[in-house]
Parts: sequence; structure tokens; C-alpha cells
Amino acid sequence: MNNKTVTLNFSDGRPSIELPVLDSTMGNPVIDIRALASQGIYTLDAGFTATASCESGISFIDGDQGLLSHRGYSIEDLAYKADFLEVCYLLIYGELPTLEQKSVFVDSIRHHSMLHDQINNVFRGFRRDAHPMALMIGVTGAMAAFYPEAQDVFDPKIRDLAAHRLLAKVPTVTAWAHKYNKGEPFVYPQHSMGYAENFLHMMHATPCEKYEVNPVLARALDRIFILHADHEQNASTSTVRLAGSTGATPFACIAAGMASLWGPLHGGANEAVLKMLEEIGDVSNIPEIIKRAKDKTNPFRLMGFGHRIYKNFDPRAKVIRETAHEVLNELDMNDDPLFRVAMELERIALEDEYFIEKKLYPNVDFYSGIVFRALGIPPSMFTPMFALARTAGWVAQWAEMLSEPTIKIGRPRQRYIGPQLREFVPIDKRGS
Ligand code: ACO
Repeated sequence: MNNKTVTLNFSDGRPSIELPVLDSTMGNPVIDIRALASQGIYTLDAGFTATASCESGISFIDGDQGLLSHRGYSIEDLAYKADFLEVCYLLIYGELPTLEQKSVFVDSIRHHSMLHDQINNVFRGFRRDAHPMALMIGVTGAMAAFYPEAQDVFDPKIRDLAAHRLLAKVPTVTAWAHKYNKGEPFVYPQHSMGYAENFLHMMHATPCEKYEVNPVLARALDRIFILHADHEQNASTSTVRLAGSTGATPFACIAAGMASLWGPLHGGANEAVLKMLEEIGDVSNIPEIIKRAKDKTNPFRLMGFGHRIYKNFDPRAKVIRETAHEVLNELDMNDDPLFRVAMELERIALEDEYFIEKKLYPNVDFYSGIVFRALGIPPSMFTPMFALARTAGWVAQWAEMLSEPTIKIGRPRQRYIGPQLREFVPIDKRGS
């Protein structure tokens, strides 16, 4: 039985407050501050740099060690030894599936992959040049109208069905967003294909000719999905949890997560990395870009570098770097100029005092754009790719939260720094 405590002593004469300190199974202990509000005290931690927003048994990161694990399994083991749907199962149900469990799960995902026929009309309401993230957010949110029973989020069976639907349908939504942008007909999911294989087929096939998916590329994409599947309480996952804590339908919660992921400091970074690499264009321009990134008066940052949690290295970046080599090798693109710029930029930045001192290492986004580009996926689709994979973590975290017996609506406090109460002045007395 843990009975560690910490005592808060105030210099203004208030009585001190004793708070429990809770151990975690891995990582830092946490001070349970829940009793503080009733004592008339709040804590301030904008950006949640030291605040645990929930208890979770799904993912764990040790940023100093460069460790990421899901349900106790290292991301490297999962990336090299499992496939994406096994990882989805693990995230949602807590254990790796047996052969039989996997077969039932995969079958269910396959058979939910088609979209309701009227969803086509939702797509058609958008401009052809709409950013695919806008399409994904809109269409995923609109699915709430097609599955109204999902609103009953406190029924575990309904939650399970909604999780399967989301895992199955988001790849179709993603590929169709691309097709809609291109002005090509939507390609329907194929039940006979694997998850990543089916996605590549929906992205690249046309009714005009047969499209064979390269199994090496499908496997590489499956691995990239695994690397992006979940990542503790990041901004988009926290958004999903916050929206979900109100009892909102999962389709709206996942759409909210997608909206949060879209920003360039989160899921939008992979698109920004490729833009940056294209702007650099040649290795001779790297010193100039490094100089800009270090200039305090310039808001420019080296995209794909740095992470709020990883201050040693991002274990996903290591795997994806290797995957990039595999893909470029398979496609005979080893001399790709962008890849050469990326490798050289990484080498120079890792030797630079500024980046060493601030512990800035390449993150998962640094190489993902290069792989996506090689797979024929345009930059505007990079964040949607991330959203597709992260749907696994979002639904798992959402379901975990709703299965807690004591779920509470997420409602942060604030430190108010605005004016004190004052008298209302009628408009004709406010001066010019
Ligand atoms: N290039 C140059 N300098 C940087 C970079 C960068 N990419 N990242 C951080 N810094 C500097 C900051 O200017 C700051 O310097 P200072 O201490 O002199 O003021 C210091 O490093 C710490 O930066 P913070 O912004 O406080 O670090 P934080 O942990 O809040 O931010 C973040 C992490 C947002 C990822 C940041 O490193 C960044 O903007 N990186 C580029 C965008 C990116 O790649 N995002 C993807 C994140 S991974 C993901 O979402 C999957």
C-alpha cells in the first residue's frame, strides 16, 4: 500500500495541505491534487507540461530513454514483429490477439470498411481543392448522422462497434479525400486485401487499369501506421478525451481529434518538413537554414526536429529512417535529392551545439514525408495519413476513458488575470 504524501506550505499563513503521491507502473509518480479545489487553491500548468490529465494503461513514453511502449510492448517489437491491426487490437483490448481473435477482428474491420452510399454526397459538398484534412474532419463528423446509435456511449457493445467502424472507415475516408481532390472516381475497399494494401489500392487504383500493390510498400506503410498508432496524451488524443468526456458521439470526438492534429506543431509537421526540404533543395543551402533555425529573432524552426517529450531520441524516427531506406531501395530511388538533403540536414544538425544543447533530435515526422512521397502520396495527404493511423489510439483512449466507473467531464480551471468587477458604462457615456 503506497502512502507517500507531499505537504504544501503557504507563506501567507494558510493551513498547509497534505496531498497523496501516487506511483505509476513505469515513469514518474504523480501528486494527486484533486483535493486542492475544495481548499480554495488551483494549480497553473498551461501546456500541461507537468500535469497528468488522466490515468491510462495504454501507452508509455520515457523521453529521456527514448522509449515508447504500448500495453508494455516496445514500439520496436511491435513495428517489426506485429502488423497494424494486431496493434489496434492490443491498444483497444489490452492484449495481443490469439490467431482466432485476430481473424475475427480483421474480418470485422474488413466488413465495415465501406462507407454509406450517401456519404458520397457529403464529399461532393466540398470544393475540389479543399484541404483533405477539412474533408476528413467534415466526413468523419458527418458519420455521426449515419450511426445515431453510437450516441449511447455508455454501452460497451455500442462503443466496440463504433471503434470497429472508425478503424475500418477512416482509411476509406482518407483515400476518398485524395480521390476527390484529384477528380478521380472513388475506389471501393476490397475485403480480400490487407489493411495497408487496401488503402494503397483505394489511393492509386483507377477503373481504367489493373493496379497491383507492391507488398514491400504495403508492409512499409503498415509499419508507419504502427509507429503513428498511439502516443500517450498528446494534443489530439487529449482533445478526443475532452470531447468524449461530455458523452459526445465518437464520430464527433474523432473529428475533433483530427482538427487538433491538423496544426503544424502536431500532425501538420510532416507536410511542413517536406515543404522545408523542397525549399532547401540542395545540400549547399543547409548551413543557411540551420542559421535561420538558430536565430532568436526569427520564428522559423527546423521542422521535424524537437519534441515535447523525447529529449534523447524519438524511437519511431529510428524505425522510420530504416523504413525510408527500404522503400527508396525497393523503388530504386536511393539517389533521391530530397532524401540526400534530409540525411545531410540530420547529420549537420546533430553535430550543432544549438541542437545538442536544446536536445533537439529528428522526430517521426522528419522521415515520414519522404516515405509518403515515395509511395506516391502528395504532401497535402501527409497529415491525413497520420490521422488514419492515430485513429487507433484515439478510439482506444476514448473507450478506456468511457469504461472508467468514475468518468468526469474534463473541465480545467484557470488563473484569471482580467479586470476586476467594474461598473457598466452606457455607450453614450464612453467618450470617443
Ligand atoms: N528548430 C529550432 N529551434 C527549436 C526547435 C526547432 N525545431 N524546436 C525547439 N526549438 C528551440 C526553441 O526555440 C526553444 O528555444 P529557447 O529555449 O531558446 O526559447 C527550445 O528549443 C525549446 O522549445 P519549446 O518550443 O519550448 O519546446 P516544446 O517542447 O514546447 O516544443 C515542439 C516541441 C513543438 C515539437 C518543437 O520542438 C517544434 O516546434 N518543432 C518543430 C515542429 C515539429 O517538428 N513538430 C512535430 C512534433 S512530433 C509530432 O507531433 C508527431
